[in-house]
Amino acid sequence: MTTELALTVDELLSTTRSVRKRLDLDRPVPRELLVECIQLAIQAPNSCNAQRTRFLIVQEPHIRARLAELYRRSYADYAKGDFRAGNLLTGDTAWDDAQQRIETSTDHLCENLHRVPVLVIPCQQVDPGDERSREAQAVLWGSAVPAAWSFCLAARSRGLGTTWTTLHLRHEKEAAAILNIPYDTVQQVALIPVAYTKGTDFKPAYRLPVEEIITFIADVEVP
Ligand SMILES: Cc1cc2nc3c(=O)[nH]c(=O)nc-3n(C[C@H](O)[C@H](O)[C@H](O)COP(=O)(O)O)c2cc1C
Repeated sequence: MTTELALTVDELLSTTRSVRKRLDLDRPVPRELLVECIQLAIQAPNSCNAQRTRFLIVQEPHIRARLAELYRRSYADYAKGDFRAGNLLTGDTAWDDAQQRIETSTDHLCENLHRVPVLVIPCQQVDPGDERSREAQAVLWGSAVPAAWSFCLAARSRGLGTTWTTLHLRHEKEAAAILNIPYDTVQQVALIPVAYTKGTDFKPAYRLPVEEIITFIADVEVP
């Protein structure tokens, strides 16, 4: 089943973009390819090897439509808010251009989400009250996110595009009802639209200079 692109590991890590406008909405994604990606994804680390991450795969048009409608509702609220990508401008041209591109891209995904052939929802089984401490939070997200991101990487290496999205979680309870999963004991982590990409050439994105990101403790005064 595997149809791997010839990407080096560094290329894979630096070019797995949020793909929205270049999703091929008309090309079906074989179920086996999704299974293959998840098979790889679950090799990611997880707390105590408890293996409480699950992947829901939605291909049914009527369920996609209902989830997309929830997403659109959240997006309408998000679009009014200060944290809309196009509002996070700094005067730095590279940064501002990237933010404006994200905004037209997110608008496009919102309008077309129901047409994306696959929606993947990684979930984490939780105990009610899990969210109480920061440690519990770290365990929850730290167990689910590595696997979900590995899924995106495996997908990219097979010619599939993904976008990590969270906006539908503003209506997570309603999404749980649509998906027929419990809300109290299953935390939805993201909603990841998946489709073949139109073309496979993606580039590294604009990011802050790495020197601004790293602190070598040896170089600063620590009391
Ligand atoms: C926690 C998180 C939540 C996100 N939520 C959304 C979302 O709801 N909708 C969307 O279109 N993109 C969403 N994104 C994608 C970001 O907009 C994207 O990662 C960012 O603009 C950088 O672009 P790149 O992934 O192509 O490098 C999210 C990303 C993360 C990590």
